[in-house]
Amino acid sequence: MSHNLLAGKQGIIFGALDEKSLAWKVAEQVHAEGGKVVLTNAPVALRFGEIDKLGEKINAPIIPADATSEEELENLFNGATEHFGGKIDFVLHSIGMSVNVRKKRDYTNLNYEWMKKTLDVSAISFHKVMQTAWKLDALNDWASIVALTYIAAQRVFPDYSEMAESKALLESFARSFGYHLAKAKKVRVNTISQSPTVTTAGSGVKGFGDFFSYADTMSPLGNATGDQCASFCVAMFSDLTKMVTMQNLFHDGGFSSMGINPEIIDPG
Ligand SMILES: NC(=O)c1ccc[n+]([C@@H]2O[C@H](COP(=O)([O-])OP(=O)(O)OC[C@H]3O[C@@H](n4cnc5c(N)ncnc54)[C@H](O)[C@@H]3O)[C@@H](O)[C@H]2O)c1
Repeated sequence: MSHNLLAGKQGIIFGALDEKSLAWKVAEQVHAEGGKVVLTNAPVALRFGEIDKLGEKINAPIIPADATSEEELENLFNGATEHFGGKIDFVLHSIGMSVNVRKKRDYTNLNYEWMKKTLDVSAISFHKVMQTAWKLDALNDWASIVALTYIAAQRVFPDYSEMAESKALLESFARSFGYHLAKAKKVRVNTISQSPTVTTAGSGVKGFGDFFSYADTMSPLGNATGDQCASFCVAMFSDLTKMVTMQNLFHDGGFSSMGINPEIIDPG
């Protein structure tokens, strides 16, 4: 059901790879709510993913950009504002990748060159996105910027490895850049901390199935789905949440507030 919450708004969505991607679901719901979208992903993901299908479905152009490249980000923002004939109202950063996790290196034996790449792709890219938009003055007043994160930034999930530090850094950038963007342009910046969700990046973490079902049992509402995450992103892009900024918002069915759930001990 559409409420036309994003009528007249236009923005950039990073990170739709396939139908399971959180960004894919966000793009579909933004479109259904009347928003206009430019899709982007790393050039390599454009070759292997299915983003073309999504572009056709929601009538969105695709502008490739490696989110670690300032030059490619500049090209993306210039291309998007040119396409829309105006500035940007919302941005979704839905990007994560750990080289050490991919190559199955233990947390106590990390390769630091790979770690730098992980931090650059998963966290520093968020600063680069905001700095590019800032330098080009590409955002409308009251624009809304959201990045997706995970509770491993605050709690220990051993198999999440260096992605925990990436998410802590990502959340810190939301607060720090959020200050500057709020003062200069009334732009708000938040992170949404999502439940485990079955996607390409999610399922790449060792033991994903176990911590998916553990979180589902621990959370009194159960895990939040990808579609529900998309609805929350739409709400954050809409004018109904204009005074929310510099926050890490848990979207996890209550998981983050739980100590123990009796169902974990005695499944009955
Ligand atoms: N799936 C989960 O359980 C879960 C839970 C909480 C948070 N998140 C976060 O949600 C976000 C989206 O992940 P997802 O689960 O939808 O998986 P996904 O694999 O569908 O999305 C990750 C995306 O990052 C893109 N990417 C990687 N390197 C890039 C680069 N250099 N430049 C531009 N894009 C690049 C990939 O191409 C891909 O589209 C990530 O930040 C992830 O950490 C996921």
